[in-house]
Amino acid sequence: MIKAQRGTKDILPEDILTWQHIEKTARELFQSANYKEIRTPIFEGTELFKRGVGDSTDIVNKEMYTFSVGGINKDENSITLRPENTAGVVRAYIEHGFNKVSAPVKLWYFGPMFRYERPQKGRQRQFHQIGVEMFGIEKPAADAEVIALASNFLSKMGLKNLVAEINSLGCPECRNTYKEKIKTVLKPYLDKLCEDCKVRYEKNPLRMLDCKNEDCIKIFENDEIKKVILSDFICKECKEHYESVKKYLDILNIKYKENKMLVRGLDYYNRTVFEIKSDALGSQNAIAGGGRYDGLVEMLGGEKTPAVGFALGAERLYELVEHKEESMLDYFIVSNLPDEAIKTVQILRDKGYSADFDLQNRKFGKQFEKAGKIAKNAVVIGEDEVKGGYYTVKNLITGEQKQVKEL
Ligand code: HAM
Repeated sequence: MIKAQRGTKDILPEDILTWQHIEKTARELFQSANYKEIRTPIFEGTELFKRGVGDSTDIVNKEMYTFSVGGINKDENSITLRPENTAGVVRAYIEHGFNKVSAPVKLWYFGPMFRYERPQKGRQRQFHQIGVEMFGIEKPAADAEVIALASNFLSKMGLKNLVAEINSLGCPECRNTYKEKIKTVLKPYLDKLCEDCKVRYEKNPLRMLDCKNEDCIKIFENDEIKKVILSDFICKECKEHYESVKKYLDILNIKYKENKMLVRGLDYYNRTVFEIKSDALGSQNAIAGGGRYDGLVEMLGGEKTPAVGFALGAERLYELVEHKEESMLDYFIVSNLPDEAIKTVQILRDKGYSADFDLQNRKFGKQFEKAGKIAKNAVVIGEDEVKGGYYTVKNLITGEQKQVKEL
């Protein structure tokens, strides 16, 4: 038997209504906040992610589905299945001259992403993200709006008691000083750090703080090191920005917790970063993550443009949604008169009802049994009904039965 690939899942008919509900709730909420949907291709030139997401990230180094396709010079045609969608949306923003539209440009998306990770609960190789990206606004109200949207969406989906963790990574200037301080204090421990952290030490020291290796975590808990990690390193402007974000979150009644260790796994962030986590998810506990990325548009060839956004894992959300949607037809026709059954089902569908009938024309009892499982009402059409020119409609939930001339 040929099975689905490891780390991929079929979304079956019994799950689809909940998925559609997730999508509909996202669409309605984001549209109400003036975000427009964008659909970008699921593969892009590999270079986009190398430059956009960052050469030193796990995503780019270990997790990309990259192919060489066609052509004589294969490298030029290297494509990658998108591991995330911020880089793709930024590419589209630049390519279609969105910078000429008055700011802010507010976009949202829903679609599959691909990461070659070791599959486990909450971690797949093909998964879906719902995300928003806002371009053109540097002011902290934009960060707060984006965090509030993520939080409001999760509340609308019935999730309670979620807390956003937030942090400020500062601007490249203040962050560089911080990076150097971290490198200095960790230098004596370099030998004891994991192989990944040895690379991160050189390429992207802040990423070390996100390491899940227990030996590294122990080192970071050393008092002297912890003092440097937790130090207040951001400059005056970044601090004012961060304080305003927090003030707006208070105004909006969004619960948050500051976490100095929150650095995120992608390289493009500056200033505000955030994650929304749920303990119910187990070790892969982040349901949403995002932040500000004021340098990315310029880095990918556009004009300098501030931006902020987030993405949320739809599979992880699905796990947490308690009320799963169920579908019941409005009507099921119970009849041994095939001509009447096919005619009546058409009348009902034309009127906008969901309706079905027994294409196998089985015995009455079997048809009733099926109706009870899939429909709210049964329309019974026997010889008496045809002679009398009426329908017998049985409400399958209350058991109430009545005769009607018209459906
Ligand atoms: P990210 O934190 O890499 O951020 O992913 C966002 C969310 O996608 C995660 O919080 C998680 O729920 C879900 N996710 C990630 N990897 C997997 C996986 N292997 N299986 C299942 N779910 C997963 C980004 O992708 C950024 N582009 C977010 C962003 C948008 N930042 C600014 N704008």
